Amino acid sequence: MEDRFAFLAEWYDPTAALLRRYQLFYYPKDGSVEMFDVKNQRIFLRRTKYDKIHQEDLFVGNRVNVFSRQLNLIEYGDQFTANKLGSKKERTLALIKPDVVTKIGDILELIYSSNLIVTKAKMTNLTSSQAGDLYMEHQTKPFFTNLVQFVSSGPVVAMELMGDEAMSIWRRLLGPADPAVARREAPQSVRAQFGTDGIKNVGHGSDSLAAAARELEFFFPSTIGYGPSNTAIYTDCTCCIIKPHAISEGLTGKILNSISAAGFEISALQMFNVDRANAEEFYEVYKGVVTEYPSMVTELCSGPCMVLEIHGTDTPKTFREFCGPADPEIARHLRPTTLRALYSKDKVKNAVHCTDLPEDGVLEVQYFFKILDG
Ligand code: TYD
Ligand code: MG
Repeated sequence: MEDRFAFLAEWYDPTAALLRRYQLFYYPKDGSVEMFDVKNQRIFLRRTKYDKIHQEDLFVGNRVNVFSRQLNLIEYGDQFTANKLGSKKERTLALIKPDVVTKIGDILELIYSSNLIVTKAKMTNLTSSQAGDLYMEHQTKPFFTNLVQFVSSGPVVAMELMGDEAMSIWRRLLGPADPAVARREAPQSVRAQFGTDGIKNVGHGSDSLAAAARELEFFFPSTIGYGPSNTAIYTDCTCCIIKPHAISEGLTGKILNSISAAGFEISALQMFNVDRANAEEFYEVYKGVVTEYPSMVTELCSGPCMVLEIHGTDTPKTFREFCGPADPEIARHLRPTTLRALYSKDKVKNAVHCTDLPEDGVLEVQYFFKILDG
């Protein structure tokens, strides 16, 4: 018998303002999909070949796009699928400490090259009480006060990493807690490369699945509005969105490195899953003006994107120049060192969005960091 993977999937239908549930089937042999409407007990989509879904996208917790519908995979539909696709997938917390937040691009490169994906990310400033809660297992240790003080001394970036054995892979990437030991025993590790001492040691990684669950809930709580707040400052700033296609191509680290190397300051950073209604609203000004508007909307809600607040004098203008012409063919000819020239595929999958008009910089940053980060 042919292999078939089954999922329970949810789709928010904006027209009816309803959450609809489907069984989603995927047939790896020919890459076809089929959908069954759970409530109405009838076939919703007959088995159809669909080459935009790949087996590696299919795991609980992920979102997939099926013919422009963004489906949340919420459960495995049968034991076969759970065994085959779900067994080793883990989520873990990776925390980048204040000393190396500017090295985030390099660290992401290492994460992606270890076959892990970043499913959530947020730059935040922890208060000392929050840092104390996070490290409560070390409360009685002599280094506790210094550790808490350091972790709350500047912005950190918290990330949810996902993949096969994510927890141990991230801890292996980090290396031994003491960078001096790391340089002797694991010279390729992140702590060996970027660490200073036992406290300024680049990052933190959950050390058990229970700790991962607790620490992820701490930074990315299921109750909206309860997590540590973002770091946006809403003055002298512009908005940059690393688009979903660039995230899924694993270009996030390279793009962040290019931005830092060009001397721009990233004052806020967060991943968002934008739904269609919000993407339409964000791009409203382009509606009827730019022929690509509908495709831009589809691209922005096709998967997670990463939004940055870029801070500095005149940034809407200088950062826009650094992004380059929206059309990558033109960018590659005229401005070969710009982000679009380097990382675009076409006029819609053009790596990044950046604010067009200087007066919109603050507004666009507010749209994400004030309105969508509820
Ligand atoms: P620990 O949980 O032992 O290491 P890891 O971060 O690899 O899980 O320690 C947690 C943090 O405590 C560590 O990142 C830095 C700090 N620490 C010190 O400052 N001095 C020490 O001697 C140890 C063991 C940890
Ligand atoms: Mg630990």
